[in-house]
Amino acid sequence: MNPLPTHIAIIMDGNGRWARTKGIPREEGHRRGAETAENIVEACRDMGIRYLTLYAFSEENWQRPLHEVDALMCLLQYYISAKRSKMIENDIRFRTIGDISKLPKEVVLEIERTKEETSKCNGMDLILAVSYSSDSEIVRAVNKLIAKGVKEVTAADISSHLDTAGIPNPDLLIRTSGELRLSNFLLWQCAYTEFYFTKVLWPDFTRKDLEEAIRDYMKRERRFGGVGEGA
Ligand code: FPP
Repeated sequence: MNPLPTHIAIIMDGNGRWARTKGIPREEGHRRGAETAENIVEACRDMGIRYLTLYAFSEENWQRPLHEVDALMCLLQYYISAKRSKMIENDIRFRTIGDISKLPKEVVLEIERTKEETSKCNGMDLILAVSYSSDSEIVRAVNKLIAKGVKEVTAADISSHLDTAGIPNPDLLIRTSGELRLSNFLLWQCAYTEFYFTKVLWPDFTRKDLEEAIRDYMKRERRFGGVGEGA
């Protein structure tokens, strides 16, 4: 049996389809999705998961209709400010990965304030991927190394210049809604991550679904390219 995953990463997919099945606007699906995100953060904190990364907004998501982008930005701004004291109370350190310079100024301000005020929290790291795409993150890392005058890079150099520097790679990646792809999420960091796909749409994803994913993960044999114990 594997121990509990140290780091869980989640692609929160299916908000739009959830809304369509109910005949309500996509924005309402995102609102419900944000409630699910809050419940799952709480569940992970209760279970003792040390790092949780949530894919909230990809760089590609900027191509969505303006009203949907606006709704997502409003939700982010609301949650990041309204849940700040709850994060502090629960000893949760808030961090982001992605190019936040592209976000509206008001959202960046809330992000910076919450990061600052939770910077000493030590119970769990909540990492929100916002305006995040893995290929851009890798390119940014390489450019940082070039700017430092590095002539030849190692894998360790790249890891330590990614937005996730210092954060252990995810042990378990969960994607909801039945899609079977990574969608430019943590490509470098998921080299040996265990994947768990479920058809449940994100707004319907519960603590029980999370526990099932963790149980499934704990039963797997992780060999990291080696031969494993049964060999
Ligand atoms: C994917 O569903 C979901 C997103 C692009 C956004 C995820 C955002 C949230 C859950 C809300 C904000 C989060 C926080 C933590 C405040 P989709 O729209 O691609 O669904 P579809 O594939 O069914 O259309």
